[in-house]
Amino acid sequence: MKYHVPDALVLRQERIGQNIYALTIESREIAHEAQPGQFVHLRCGQGDDPLLRRPLSINDVQRETGYVTFWYQVVGKGTQLLSQVQAGECLDVMGPLGHGFQTDLSGKKVGLIGGGMGIAPLIFLGSELVKKNEVQAFGGGRSKELLPRFPENMDFPSELITEDGSSGKQGLVTEILEEWLAQDAPERFDFLYACGPRPMLAEVARLARQAQIPLQVSLETVMACGVGACLGCTCEGAGRAEGKRFKVCQDGPVFWAEEVNWDE
Ligand SMILES: Cc1cc2nc3c(=O)[nH]c(=O)nc-3n(C[C@H](O)[C@H](O)[C@H](O)COP(=O)(O)OP(=O)(O)OC[C@H]3O[C@@H](n4cnc5c(N)ncnc54)[C@H](O)[C@@H]3O)c2cc1C
Ligand code: FES
Repeated sequence: MKYHVPDALVLRQERIGQNIYALTIESREIAHEAQPGQFVHLRCGQGDDPLLRRPLSINDVQRETGYVTFWYQVVGKGTQLLSQVQAGECLDVMGPLGHGFQTDLSGKKVGLIGGGMGIAPLIFLGSELVKKNEVQAFGGGRSKELLPRFPENMDFPSELITEDGSSGKQGLVTEILEEWLAQDAPERFDFLYACGPRPMLAEVARLARQAQIPLQVSLETVMACGVGACLGCTCEGAGRAEGKRFKVCQDGPVFWAEEVNWDE
């Protein structure tokens, strides 16, 4: 079930990196319904400019208090306006939207792979999965300032890697994953989840396919309506979904990696 909350109270707005912000709103409806991998569509400015809502993944929820947190990077007009919103103001939010990650696993070893802002939804996902599974997270980005961090109080370990070596090892997050997958059988993963830029996801998909490990990915496309009405966000299916065009906002944003046409 999705809700339109025209006056969600902003509780906190905090800068957590270079142009990266953590925003917490109060919405008991959204907090109660939200599943890891789902997103909200929110109006960033007052009035009609910008006209379109902007999608943000749900980073954390506290169901008892109704707190819902998002991490976002300022990249254009909408996110710039959003960064100026202060605690005590209200935002017009629709959500939770889309299909999230599969979370009904138990006794598995799972790997989470996040690239840049793709780390954001993996925090919520990891905190759900760790209740019944062993979780290891990997986060990668260009440099320390451009990378949101896994919070230190998480119940699962995480490893960071940056392209310029300013935090953690130097390299690509897919290289760390490849190293882990090359280890002996007990260290391998039963299930992988990834979110980040498309080229990173395509490489994770290749590695997972090679290692025969199921993988779910969260895709990002430019979105307009966010609810399946405009066809502005479609992507091509592959494998058992060959010939299909998915609406990322409604059929996803989470997909099985083998159902995505990575060559599109
Ligand atoms: C399901 C989903 C979840 C998302 N979750 C997050 C999140 O948790 N945190 C976060 O920081 N961002 C997230 N994004 C991306 C975020 O929605 C965009 O960065 C935002 O809409 C940009 O709005 P803007 O007005 O600031 O920039 P615009 O002026 O609209 O665009 C600025 C630049 O960013 C590019 N851009 C805009 N939207 C996207 C997109 N969806 N994918 C790739 N490039 C884009 C544009 O092509 C342009 O080059 C998510 C996107 C989707 C589809
Ligand atoms: S954004 Fe309109 S159909 Fe997906």
